[in-house]
Amino acid sequence: MSTNTENVNKLLNLIINPNTGKTLKEEGRILEVKADQNELLFKYKRDGISPDQKRMIESAINQAVSEFYSPEKITVLTTSENSSDVFSGKTFSPADAKKPASSQQAAQIKTGHGPAGAHKKRVAGAKKVIAVSSNKGGVGKSTVAVNLAFALKNLGKKVGLLDADIYGPSVPMLLNKRDAKPGATPEKKILPIEAYGIPFISFGLFINEKDPVIWRGPMLGGVLNQFLFDVAWADLDYLIIDLPPGTGDMQLSMVQATEIDGVIVVSTPQDVAILDSRKGLNMFNQVKIPVLGMVENMSYFVPDDMPHKKYFIFGEGGVKKAAKELEVDLLAEIPLEMALREGSDTGHPYMNEKKHEGRPVWNAYMSLAKNVDGAINGSPDGEQKGFFKRLFS
Ligand SMILES: Nc1ncnc2c1ncn2[C@@H]1O[C@H](COP(=O)(O)OP(=O)(O)O)[C@@H](O)[C@H]1O
Ligand SMILES: [Mg+2]
Repeated sequence: MSTNTENVNKLLNLIINPNTGKTLKEEGRILEVKADQNELLFKYKRDGISPDQKRMIESAINQAVSEFYSPEKITVLTTSENSSDVFSGKTFSPADAKKPASSQQAAQIKTGHGPAGAHKKRVAGAKKVIAVSSNKGGVGKSTVAVNLAFALKNLGKKVGLLDADIYGPSVPMLLNKRDAKPGATPEKKILPIEAYGIPFISFGLFINEKDPVIWRGPMLGGVLNQFLFDVAWADLDYLIIDLPPGTGDMQLSMVQATEIDGVIVVSTPQDVAILDSRKGLNMFNQVKIPVLGMVENMSYFVPDDMPHKKYFIFGEGGVKKAAKELEVDLLAEIPLEMALREGSDTGHPYMNEKKHEGRPVWNAYMSLAKNVDGAINGSPDGEQKGFFKRLFS
């Protein structure tokens, strides 16, 4: 056996059934693996695996062996009691229409999505759930999720945080709790960690930072349900979810499974591509999650010694313009401030430090919190804004 085949087999033996968290190998589901120089064929028993989970397995396989095979060289076959079908790693193209029925079905599986909002579940212990999303990494999504949580807390709300960003779970660092180990209740629910009065849970507390990202996908399938629904949240007014950036299958699976009351999309003036934003908004529309609006992060810089001067380092009004074009509200423009980054780096969230009160960043976050709370619970003055106005008109 060549080393390649050996390695490929090793990798495939680690693919997990998202339904049970066990490997397909452990469950005796693997029927056939043909790994030759050019092509990979993988056949497994699919019984009890939903279309969503099947898609997660397919993308896990694609990622796992990406070093050896490009997607179009991978064929995944499944059998089940009632039917059999096939998936090949390539995406749908009109030419596929000419191929036999089995491979047509495959292409649709890869490109199509499950029914919107079919089996959404509410997160127990949280009155309202808000997701924070972005099209790209590095725009400040986690910074916004954490500081929005504290801003809502400053309004007197009870808030929890769920860091579901498997690619870069940074909430433990932002809250100075990297080494915390969550316990369990007698009913086997996960106990959140408490930081500065905010209970939180993060993938970062469960994964080894050195684990390659490809294993997190398959792992996620197994723990996702537990993570979303088996955490012992207590009486939260708001649960804030820090989603993974982008709008791929992973994100879709998450938002599809969960009853989310509203989502906010974070961009920087420089990193706001209309096309990507529209794709994101479409995803949320598809699964019937209200988009509360966009947040522009790193809007401008105010020098300490010139508090009335604004420097638009990444250009002026980029996200405002995009929001207008996409017909969603602009919820806040958050300036750049060194203390915000320093607070993040040292695990002392900006919005938990009263010394910042009245500064431009502080004010922007408080107005974001009020806008979010107003959009979710109805503005105190009874005026319906944005999404709700459109919904009711
Ligand atoms: N308004 C801001 N002012 C200064 N630094 C910021 C601001 N927003 C984010 N940052 C910094 O930018 C970096 C990326 O932010 P982060 O929240 O981790 O992004 P994401 O979660 O989108 O990947 C971090 O170092 C963070 O401290
Ligand atoms: Mg992040």
